[in-house]
Amino acid sequence: MTNVDCAQPKFVFHSTHITEHKQIAADTWQLTFFAPDMAAHALPGQFFMLRIAGQNDPLIGRALAMFDRHRDGAGNLNAISVVYTVKGRFTTAMARRNPGDQIDVWGPLGNAFSTEPVDHLILVAGGVGQTPMLTYAAAALGREEFGASSSSNQAGTGPLGMKGPFASKVTMCYGARTKDQLAGVEQFQKVCSEVIITTEDGSAGIQGRVTTALEAILKQKQSERCRIACCGPEPMMHAVSNMAEAYDVPCQVSLETPMACGIGICFTCVAKVIQPDGQWDYKRTCVEGPIFDSRSICWE
Ligand SMILES: Cc1cc2nc3c(=O)[nH]c(=O)nc-3n(C[C@H](O)[C@H](O)[C@H](O)COP(=O)(O)OP(=O)(O)OC[C@H]3O[C@@H](n4cnc5c(N)ncnc54)[C@H](O)[C@@H]3O)c2cc1C
Ligand code: FES
Repeated sequence: MTNVDCAQPKFVFHSTHITEHKQIAADTWQLTFFAPDMAAHALPGQFFMLRIAGQNDPLIGRALAMFDRHRDGAGNLNAISVVYTVKGRFTTAMARRNPGDQIDVWGPLGNAFSTEPVDHLILVAGGVGQTPMLTYAAAALGREEFGASSSSNQAGTGPLGMKGPFASKVTMCYGARTKDQLAGVEQFQKVCSEVIITTEDGSAGIQGRVTTALEAILKQKQSERCRIACCGPEPMMHAVSNMAEAYDVPCQVSLETPMACGIGICFTCVAKVIQPDGQWDYKRTCVEGPIFDSRSICWE
């Protein structure tokens, strides 16, 4: 593995290898790569840029959120997992790669989810938007620590650590079109207090959209100290944002705007974000995000 320190101290560039690559749902793969320092410093909600080493199509890297971290036999963090759905050029090419193949990775990038204490943290995921939720649930319930606090290896200057517990209960609402597209449900069941599945065709869980499950929870909420964290297709995040506002519950969304550099240089990834003065401005999702307060987003 070759390491190149980047200008921004917070992330590193690695040319590294795939350690495991397995299909976990229809058109959906979990890819694990060797990266001890990234695993020690990444926080829930952060992402990595990936390229297939030595291949120029696609030329530009793709952003993938951290799904999980892994340890070696001695218990030291040594690898990161991402989960992706085969969609276009990068993901089609990546699905043909095998353990041992080289990839280029830079990260961890972007900001992390909130650690403000709540009684009930409600995670709302649509499709592959479940990816950043597993580690966040683990941190919120105090099952795992992330960032500098998670490792004795303090080399590098990773962002602040994320140490829980900062939620008494974590509910994961996970929606997909059909049962075959649900990925990692058993892992979520092990980590979260409660997992509610919805499918549009009714092949698993409640028939309908994930917002149906969310609304049922919000109608019965027992505490004012709730927060929603949401990731998925933009129309779904917009709907969740509206619902959060209607029930007066704070909500964070993780935007998936297409990116090119991932480090704040190219401005490919901008989103319209409302500023404290009430005016909107373009913000780079890769450095000022990907996580934003849902009420600050100018939904199109
Ligand atoms: C912070 C962040 C985290 C992400 N995390 C994940 C993740 O964990 N798993 C995952 O599968 N994907 C994730 N994505 C999306 C990912 O970066 C790629 O865009 C996606 O995998 C498609 O790449 P591709 O080359 O296969 O498709 P492309 O060839 O680039 O495009 C295929 C089709 O999808 C459309 N498209 C491409 N990118 C997006 C996008 N971001 N949103 C909506 N439509 C798009 C294109 O317009 C085109 O129609 C994330 C994006 C961001 C910004
Ligand atoms: S992806 Fe280049 S500035 Fe955000």
